[in-house]
Amino acid sequence: MTAFVATRAETQNGSGEARLIALDPGKMARSFPAEPFAYRHFLAAHPLLQLDALAQLAAGMPRDRLEYNSGRLKVDQKPEETPGVDLEPTEIVRQIETAGAWMVLKNVETIPEYGRVVEAVLDEAARASGHRDRRSAGMTEPMGFIFVSSAHAVTPFHLDYEENLFVQLHGDKAMHVFDNRDRSIIDEEGLETFPGKHRNHRFRDHYASREQVFAFKAGDGMFLPYTWPHWVETGDDWSISMAITWKTPEGRRLNKLYFANAVLRRLGIPQAPPGQRRWLDGVKVALYDIARLPLEPLRRGEAMRRMLRTALFGRAANYYYGKAGKT
Ligand SMILES: [Fe+2]
Repeated sequence: MTAFVATRAETQNGSGEARLIALDPGKMARSFPAEPFAYRHFLAAHPLLQLDALAQLAAGMPRDRLEYNSGRLKVDQKPEETPGVDLEPTEIVRQIETAGAWMVLKNVETIPEYGRVVEAVLDEAARASGHRDRRSAGMTEPMGFIFVSSAHAVTPFHLDYEENLFVQLHGDKAMHVFDNRDRSIIDEEGLETFPGKHRNHRFRDHYASREQVFAFKAGDGMFLPYTWPHWVETGDDWSISMAITWKTPEGRRLNKLYFANAVLRRLGIPQAPPGQRRWLDGVKVALYDIARLPLEPLRRGEAMRRMLRTALFGRAANYYYGKAGKT
């Protein structure tokens, strides 16, 4: 395998500033944001994204921003049977070559220097799609999630409620991606969500005939659109990757509707999918905004986030503090 080495011309934009990601405007015009596609990036040698820096980062993060477990998971993993890993978070990162582990550092954008990387990538993506910057492109809630995993670690089948510019930084990885318009893979109830709902979905073997596989080495990346189901496996080496995410206005609206419909389904009142009854969708979004307003300042501290999840969604909503995450 050959490491990707960018030339000076490739890593600078027209103004001579460093480029972080190589997005082709033609491909963006054809596929963004409707379809997944691959690209190259220049982040693999970034000092903030090396193992030592990530061990330090893990040591300073609130506990609920870290999730980790054994890497020996199934694609169709039952959440309650997820095997744990007996190491402290910092040691998982330092020993990732032998730990047999999988770990994610969540919301790294809350650390200013990581936040600047996330925002710079989104600004580049916005410019490559014909906008001045991320704000004028409607990209809100920029976030970063860094994945550190041992060789042959599996991330079970799931979907994410945001747009994702994924970058591979070390080692090999493959992402198996499925079309989010296929309701025979994820049905309407499967799309509905609330904080603390376990992200793993059932995976049936016959889905495999409908997958697109994106294979990555350091320097490779892909755009993964909102709620496209996927599962991930690392190759023969340990791996670092990062998801650089944001939400569109339409994605934020859908997230509120999926939440409202999940709550109503729990109360025994299943709802029509978003888009079928527009006026009712509008009422649900307005009620969501009203209910959320007084909670927002409370969510800034870990203890309060944990209490709110338990109060609103039950103890299972804090699943990543449990067995799978035990140290
Ligand atoms: Fe994901």
